[in-house]
Amino acid sequence: MNSSTHTHTTESTSGHQRRKAILVTGAGGELGHALIELLAQRGESNVVAVDIRELHPNIRAHCDNSFVGDICDHSLLERLLAMYEVDEVFHLAALLSTRGEFAPETAHQVNVVGTLNLLKLAAEQARSHGRSVKFIFPSSIAAYGLPSLEEKQRAKSVKEDQYLEPHTMYGINKLAGEHLGRYYQEHYRKLAKDRVIQAIDFRSIRFPGIMSAHTVPAGGTSDYGPEMVHAAAQGRPYACFVRPDSRISFMTMPEAVLALAQLAAAPKKNLTRCVYNVSGFSPTAADFQRCVKKYFPAADISFTPDLGRQSIIDSWPEDIDDSAARRDWDWKPTHTLESAFEQYLVPAIKARYAAHSSEPQL
Ligand code: SER
Repeated sequence: MNSSTHTHTTESTSGHQRRKAILVTGAGGELGHALIELLAQRGESNVVAVDIRELHPNIRAHCDNSFVGDICDHSLLERLLAMYEVDEVFHLAALLSTRGEFAPETAHQVNVVGTLNLLKLAAEQARSHGRSVKFIFPSSIAAYGLPSLEEKQRAKSVKEDQYLEPHTMYGINKLAGEHLGRYYQEHYRKLAKDRVIQAIDFRSIRFPGIMSAHTVPAGGTSDYGPEMVHAAAQGRPYACFVRPDSRISFMTMPEAVLALAQLAAAPKKNLTRCVYNVSGFSPTAADFQRCVKKYFPAADISFTPDLGRQSIIDSWPEDIDDSAARRDWDWKPTHTLESAFEQYLVPAIKARYAAHSSEPQL
């Protein structure tokens, strides 16, 4: 445990002091890394991390404590609650869309049962400390399912309540997580006499593909974007697994974690929904290739579409309408595709591989 100071403590039922904490699950994943860095920059010293693997030491150093284990393991969550009073949850742990199609039942277990465990934990925390617990849940464009490529091209930018017939287990799981969150906020234990009203303050964002300069994704289907840039920066050839004309929305990782923090901080009275789209830019895979070649002219990029993964991308919308997020909590993207490459991806990726060429990737 690091030496961060804790001014807030409460007494547990067994009589010892429990410290207030922000719980981050999936802390070792891409979003987890970036969010924990952001929370540390903002002076949050009470982050408690959970991940299935040991955290990278740089991330671990920003946390008050970290627990290695499965979010489906009740004894792990109980151990955590014996030490901490959870005020806010960023539930980031998930098994992504490509991996989920190889193990759909495992995906359901992690993505839905795991989410249910965390919601229940949050509801019990709210009951025990008498305040609602904020529950921040990243959802995904995978929640959408366009029936055909023609319909996708016709629909262009979709609103939160359209086309909610996902084709992947991951998308179905994310949609289930959104509904579970809404249920725990609005209706949980509706018939119980000792019901706590609005124990959970549930807030969710449907993210597009996300590109980080510092980490590489694993097991997703939007991975071709970041993979292409990271391969070029390392001088490795890259065979893109979707057609050049494939188009979905993307954003940069700093924008994604800022969006999470911004939604978490928004006054509840301004929020007209539980789940919000956020969008960045909507390039084709060929646009990515063009940008990568501009900065890494020797990049060797080819296209070898994988029919299965292509069908997933073809079922996700070209763009998502984020007017509700803009209206309710002042969301606006920072980057266009060009500025994302010029101001964030290229400088940060070049610095990363220059500085850490001999280190394993996070
Ligand atoms: N990046 C995710 C995936 O590709 C989508 O949310 O599975």
